[in-house]
Amino acid sequence: MKKSVKKISKGLKGEISIPADKSISHRAVILASLANGKSIIKNFSKGQDPLSTLQICKNLGVDAEFKNDLIINSTGKLCSPAGELDCGNSGTTMRFMAGVLAGQNFNSILTGDKSLSKRPMKRVIEPLTLMGAEILSKDNHAPLSINGKNLHNIDYVSNLASAQVKSCILLAGLNCEGKTTFTEPYISRDHTERMLKFMGANISTCRNTTTIEKSVLRPQIIEVCGDISSAAYFIVAGLIVPNSEIILKNVGLNPTRTGIIEIVKQMGGNIEILDLRNVSGEEVGDIKITYSSLKAVTIKGEIIPKLIDELPVIAVLATQADGTTIIKDAQDLRNKESDRIKAIVTELKKIGADIEETQDGFIINGKTELQGGCEVETYHDHRLAMSLYVAGLVCNNPICINGFEWVNISFPEFEQLCNKLLS
Ligand code: S3P
Repeated sequence: MKKSVKKISKGLKGEISIPADKSISHRAVILASLANGKSIIKNFSKGQDPLSTLQICKNLGVDAEFKNDLIINSTGKLCSPAGELDCGNSGTTMRFMAGVLAGQNFNSILTGDKSLSKRPMKRVIEPLTLMGAEILSKDNHAPLSINGKNLHNIDYVSNLASAQVKSCILLAGLNCEGKTTFTEPYISRDHTERMLKFMGANISTCRNTTTIEKSVLRPQIIEVCGDISSAAYFIVAGLIVPNSEIILKNVGLNPTRTGIIEIVKQMGGNIEILDLRNVSGEEVGDIKITYSSLKAVTIKGEIIPKLIDELPVIAVLATQADGTTIIKDAQDLRNKESDRIKAIVTELKKIGADIEETQDGFIINGKTELQGGCEVETYHDHRLAMSLYVAGLVCNNPICINGFEWVNISFPEFEQLCNKLLS
């Protein structure tokens, strides 16, 4: 689908509620499936990725039904699936389910779409194999054929700060005798740890190490808050479109996800948190954004996992900041739904940004008047589609985004909410 986006002169105004967090939705449906009894998930994401996880849980014998909420009835035991389990475009689904399925007493096959089949799975195959798992793959890529085995515990030190890898090992450890520990170089998002605790698991974290023991999960009522990674597009749009003043309601503010807020503050952006509260073990608040003049910043090291998914739209933000913004230590961006370093640099260059690719990030000189007036590509990547849409709002000439339908992976409501702020 092609989408034309043009410059907005009158500013974004008003307030919107941010739809459900994708990361928390995946975890809610998996953990509810592993608990014995009825769980209620309020505000489950409508994105295609969490729906892939939900479908897989159903294929594993879990009873799930949407009333107003998502009602999960499970025995806590999964059943051998009738066919392959399709993770679609979702790396989170594949890596989490590998951790769940490796220790079951049945075999299973996880498949994915073209993009997911190119993404590295060695990061989960290797530690799971050390735990006794048997996983056959296509040179460490999907499809993954998992021959269920009794796993044993492990002390794993990861060289990647990845919540997907961490969660995979914690989910495998949930089913193992003894203590499993996972140590990461920097702290990645900790939704899995929080939700496991919320559902009664024996889990604790000390600095960068998380320890889990075999546990029985209690069913729960889980309310999913809004996704800060979705809010990020409006945070950036509100900062760079002149005359904007907006409020984003119900945004998850877990400190392992709020890197973008720290960076916007460092850039001099006008951002305010209102009504901070706690929902199902996660910090939540409303965010007020006003159009701001911005200065460049360097983004590197331990903040990277706290804003990893926001880096494409932060690149757009940096084109509108005075000075040289440097983003480094983000080489794993090349392993996302697309090579996000190459993709964002190529597409922002087309519309007139002064941006250069480096091995582990990019360098942007601003402030630049973006010209647009061309077609841009999404690389089948939802975050590219939305980042380019935001860039289009400040281009002098309209841009045409090819493959805009990819937004449905995480944020089907994106354009409708954008239009609400423009009306
Ligand atoms: C996610 C973790 C991140 C992120 C992804 C969702 C999660 O991946 O990029 O979109 O829900 O745990 P990594 O942990 O591999 O960096």
